[in-house]
Amino acid sequence: MVSYKELGLVNTREMFAKAIKGGYAIPAFNFNNMEQLQAIIKASAETKSPVILQVSKGARNYANQTLLRYMAQGAVEYAKELGWEHPQICLHLDHGDSFELCKSCVDFGFSSVMIDASSLPYEENIALTKKVVDYAHQYDVTVEAELGVLAGVEDEVSSAVSHYTKPEEVVDFATRTGCDSLAISIGTSHGAYKFTPEQCTRDPKTGKLVPPPLAFDVLDAIMEQLPGFPIVLHGSSSVPQEYVDMINMYGGKLPDAVGIPEEQLRKAAASAVCKINIDSDSRLAFTAAVRKVFAEKPGEFDPRKYCGPARDLMEELYKHKIINVLGSNGKAE
Ligand code: G3H
Ligand code: 13P
Ligand code: ZN
Repeated sequence: MVSYKELGLVNTREMFAKAIKGGYAIPAFNFNNMEQLQAIIKASAETKSPVILQVSKGARNYANQTLLRYMAQGAVEYAKELGWEHPQICLHLDHGDSFELCKSCVDFGFSSVMIDASSLPYEENIALTKKVVDYAHQYDVTVEAELGVLAGVEDEVSSAVSHYTKPEEVVDFATRTGCDSLAISIGTSHGAYKFTPEQCTRDPKTGKLVPPPLAFDVLDAIMEQLPGFPIVLHGSSSVPQEYVDMINMYGGKLPDAVGIPEEQLRKAAASAVCKINIDSDSRLAFTAAVRKVFAEKPGEFDPRKYCGPARDLMEELYKHKIINVLGSNGKAE
């Protein structure tokens, strides 16, 4: 058993409470490799932003759980070396799908876990979430749960709407599970294709796809039911057009990729939404930078020469999110 406290990590309790009060959101950036981690820590240290390092089940398998634990510990030390006196870094399991996986993460030094039982029937979601909460809280590890199903690009608009979180369920769910935060469905979705072209309109000037707005009425109703309770938004990448264009220009193929407009995320961050999940944008930045090097310097075969530019572009992206979208800069001096 390794406690996250020994690694210098923090859970989400205090960071969420401050974020809700302060009208900003904590960035939750997924990572799978050293370059992503370096970029996240550098951006957070330089902007003094609390940060959640997110690891999916797939990322944990990819990176190895033991190595991951030391990477997280190393991240805290690296942050200090960069001059961040009191780093507020949380190591979080993203989309945990079983009690065993959540328990293993708690036992291996994670400071926060998500149990995503949102695809199960309501009562089963409650039972599994409560089981994880009961275990995690013994070690002061915070737990994120999910209610509602995030739409996939394959969904029809009507079925996407019908999967929104039901505001009438949230009080019962939060009370009976004891979860520390709640991921909700209000129209975001995972990946770089969040909406089909049919779900969007086209900007007559640029010809670009304009996605439908998020269901802020549902968010408002949830906040009314659970005043001050930490809300989480998954699937919050904006799919920056500049990265998509770069990827397509240098031999990639991402037709009609579309994300959540930043102004909508700014609006969410100012509310009880206190954790915003971003993974795809970092994948796009990485891929765009690597493709550029490969296209311009076909003779290059030193990974530092293409992973380095990828790291720089991701760092720029993370800083932009922290300062211009989430507003978490300067909140962890
Ligand atoms: O929500 C999913 C995250 O983007 C992680 O994706 O399971 O491919 O690591 P992954
Ligand atoms: P994106 O695919 O929009 O980056 O969402 C990531 C996410 O929600 C991770 O849990
Ligand atoms: Zn997610």
